[in-house]
Amino acid sequence: MKIALIGYGKMGREIEAIALERGHEIVLSIGHENLSDLTPDALRKADVAIEFTQPEAAPANIRMCADVKLPVVVGTTGWYSGYETIAQEVKEKKGALLAATNFSIGVHLFFAVNKWFSHLMNQHPAYTVRVEETHHIHKKDAPSGTAITLAEKLLEGLKNKSGWSLTPENNQIPVIAHRIDEVPGTHDVFYESEADEIRLTHTAFNRKGFALGAVLAAEWLKDKQGVFTMQDFLGL
Ligand SMILES: NC(=O)c1ccc[n+]([C@@H]2O[C@H](COP(=O)([O-])OP(=O)(O)OC[C@H]3O[C@@H](n4cnc5c(N)ncnc54)[C@H](OP(=O)(O)O)[C@@H]3O)[C@@H](O)[C@H]2O)c1
Repeated sequence: MKIALIGYGKMGREIEAIALERGHEIVLSIGHENLSDLTPDALRKADVAIEFTQPEAAPANIRMCADVKLPVVVGTTGWYSGYETIAQEVKEKKGALLAATNFSIGVHLFFAVNKWFSHLMNQHPAYTVRVEETHHIHKKDAPSGTAITLAEKLLEGLKNKSGWSLTPENNQIPVIAHRIDEVPGTHDVFYESEADEIRLTHTAFNRKGFALGAVLAAEWLKDKQGVFTMQDFLGL
């Protein structure tokens, strides 16, 4: 499969390595220095695009892919307030989009466990709940998109919680963001009572899991039309 890599930073390079290992071809790699190479004609040479850039750039990049009906897998986080509008545009233009705040398969299993466990913990209001995430100091958004998705999963079960916040009030789930060294990504959910603590943790050891998930998602999305999630792809 021919891949257009939009964003050739830490993730873009990891994705390139895994895509080549899996026998794919990179027909376009875009970073800041060659932004002018990102044109509809260049995109038409690809079967699928993989976009890992920055929050300000993702919506325009998705639009450009949709304009030429190029399926696009989007890993960029921090732009999701505009998601519904973009998703609608992609549908209207008969493009294909799979955006996820985290492409690690392990994280999606972790989401599923947390969703199930939150229903169980709903019966035990003596426990407080909080989410903590730790990432490298270069990360531009806080909290992480993964922590937001995680908090949303918890809200499905914890009926006495009204939302999540970095500065929580009353019934909101606290989300705490740490930025330390080169940590690839750790997410913890803590349930705490006076007597004990239950901690559910997912730790990424490196970026390989995200990159592999994105390439697998691109293989799955290549000939599709419409707007999809990791749940669709993984059948979770
Ligand atoms: N969903 C997931 O599983 C997952 C996993 C890890 C990271 N992420 C997210 O993915 C994004 C990228 O992460 P990263 O660690 O690879 O960041 P990074 O190392 O900073 O790389 C970003 C790349 O995008 C390029 N870029 C910036 N603006 C662009 C534009 N308008 N068009 C095209 N390319 C542009 C940058 O070019 P320059 O280097 O020239 O500035 C750089 O090559 C972040 O939002 C991060 O949170 C998601």
